[in-house]
Amino acid sequence: MFNSKIIGLGKYLPENIVTNADLEKIMETSDAWIQERTGIEERRHIAKGDGNSTSMMGVKAARIAIERAGLVPQDIDFILFATLSPDYYFPGSGVLVQEALEIPDCPAMDIRMQCSGFVYAVATADQFIKTGMYKNVLVIGSEYHSGGLDMTTRGRNISVIFGDGAGAVVMTRTENLSEGVLSSHLHSQGKYAEELSLIGPNTGRWVPEIMEANDPEDISYYPYMNGQFVFKNAVVRFAEVIKEGLEKTSWSADQIDLLIPHQANLRIAQFVQKKFGLSDDQVYNNIQRYGNTTAASIPIALTEAWEEGKVEQGTKVVLAAFGSGFTWGSVMIQW
Ligand code: UT7
Repeated sequence: MFNSKIIGLGKYLPENIVTNADLEKIMETSDAWIQERTGIEERRHIAKGDGNSTSMMGVKAARIAIERAGLVPQDIDFILFATLSPDYYFPGSGVLVQEALEIPDCPAMDIRMQCSGFVYAVATADQFIKTGMYKNVLVIGSEYHSGGLDMTTRGRNISVIFGDGAGAVVMTRTENLSEGVLSSHLHSQGKYAEELSLIGPNTGRWVPEIMEANDPEDISYYPYMNGQFVFKNAVVRFAEVIKEGLEKTSWSADQIDLLIPHQANLRIAQFVQKKFGLSDDQVYNNIQRYGNTTAASIPIALTEAWEEGKVEQGTKVVLAAFGSGFTWGSVMIQW
């Protein structure tokens, strides 16, 4: 019998900082609007031509996580790569990481669960480790959003929110069943698939068809979000899935040392904090500096919290996410 636990963490953020004031210069928006509605002050955007890609940012975060785990890349048995912005339509980005890390042969699987991607990936790694199938699993969340956003006033409700970056963890087996991942809780509701989506091109409308139509009104290649609807669902699902984890582990809310919510919107995190009566010290937020980095947001935040000494042996950590799909989930970790 095994549990899984995190033994190494890393993050990578592109150097190029884009402030709200920078966005004011290219679209009708304001620092006041962005901060009031989302809490975001700045985000990182890959500078074109700087050599970064979704997989390469993942590799940079992974190298740090592997080194901090006291391992070398060849010790990794399985790669899980969570992203909604893979390098290619196919193959997935996981195999590109495997090649870049010079791991001769190990399975690499992409997880396409958007904002919940890292939570789903940790839960998946946990199951493979618990069964004994794999020992050391590299879990990456990475997103290169900026190149695919509508950076005009038309796209402002989405483009001011999202940022680029990557986070990674190494998980391994432990025979101590009272530590590591204690439980994970995953959900989805495809009924609302298109409320937060990027649908074109797709298998119902391939590229040649879109090119032939040559319709300037067709912007299906940009992300779409029904913001208020997503917001309303997010606050409900975050609360539900955290409660589910608390019940499973028999923890009370005040026993949570650190809740790391997916960094979707500071207002959502504050709502959840209030709902469970948590103090500021019990909730980690860094959306102010990075915006919403989708599958990368939790591993980036977890890494920063660990670097700041907020996560150490014995810390009770809750990861929770909600996003496109809709998908949502939580992971309860006894560090
Ligand atoms: O990570 C995945 C999950 N995602 C989320 O959880 C996001 C959930 N949704 C949200 O966080 C919020 O809905 C937003 C922050 C995206 C938007 O906030 P909102 O309060 O729902 O604004 P809204 O879309 O209802 O728009 C209100 C007004 C509109 O103007 P009118 O029609 O009232 O004149 C928008 O056109 O704000 C306008 N607006 C903006 N104004 C300045 C929309 N985006 C912007 C902008 N700058 N960037």
